Amino acid sequence: MCRIALRLDYPDRVAPTPIVVLISGTGSLLAALLEASRRRDSSFTVVGVIADRDAPGLEHARAAEVPAQVIAPADHPDRAAWDRALAAAVAAHSPQLVVLAGFMRLLGAPLLDSHGGRIINSHPALLPSFPGAHGVRDALAHGVKVTGASVIEVDPGIDTGRILAQRAVEVLPEDTEASLHERIKAVEQPMLVEVVQRLTAAD
Ligand code: GRF
Repeated sequence: MCRIALRLDYPDRVAPTPIVVLISGTGSLLAALLEASRRRDSSFTVVGVIADRDAPGLEHARAAEVPAQVIAPADHPDRAAWDRALAAAVAAHSPQLVVLAGFMRLLGAPLLDSHGGRIINSHPALLPSFPGAHGVRDALAHGVKVTGASVIEVDPGIDTGRILAQRAVEVLPEDTEASLHERIKAVEQPMLVEVVQRLTAAD
């Protein structure tokens, strides 16, 4: 009934594309995605959030009444079992796109096989420089004057997938890892939203 009424009101409107977001941390990127998804003309909707730990960012999902779930390695007998559980949890939402938004683990074959080519990751450095878990720290330690953020397709490597978007951020002499990361996140959030909009608008 509701759906019919919507179609009559907005005959050209297409149902937003379902996405699942994976997080490990505070969920600042998730919050940006949720906010964008609430816009009336959003091309995507967040149908599920999955974390590998009891991440504080899960609160954003709960506040938005989006199903949120923890799939923790510690709750599984081995890495292969966790990989299968994660892939099954993602598949249960039937997403068209999976977004790693501060998810701090490598994906295993089950998820890559089931959603390959439809998984993207946001990384806080200008890839291919400074891949891995400490992109901000490594860039600072190297003494670069410009770093930034990248959104990439996920492949089996460590931040080796095709680059979809990048933004540069100047490194200031007084920067700490935390201050630099905050400025990177400020460009990372709108960039990730833009890429997700672009990919889902094409659906
Ligand atoms: C982002 O900089 C992301 O690239 C990195 O973790 C940060 C997101 O963390 N891997 P959060 O969204 O604040 O948890």
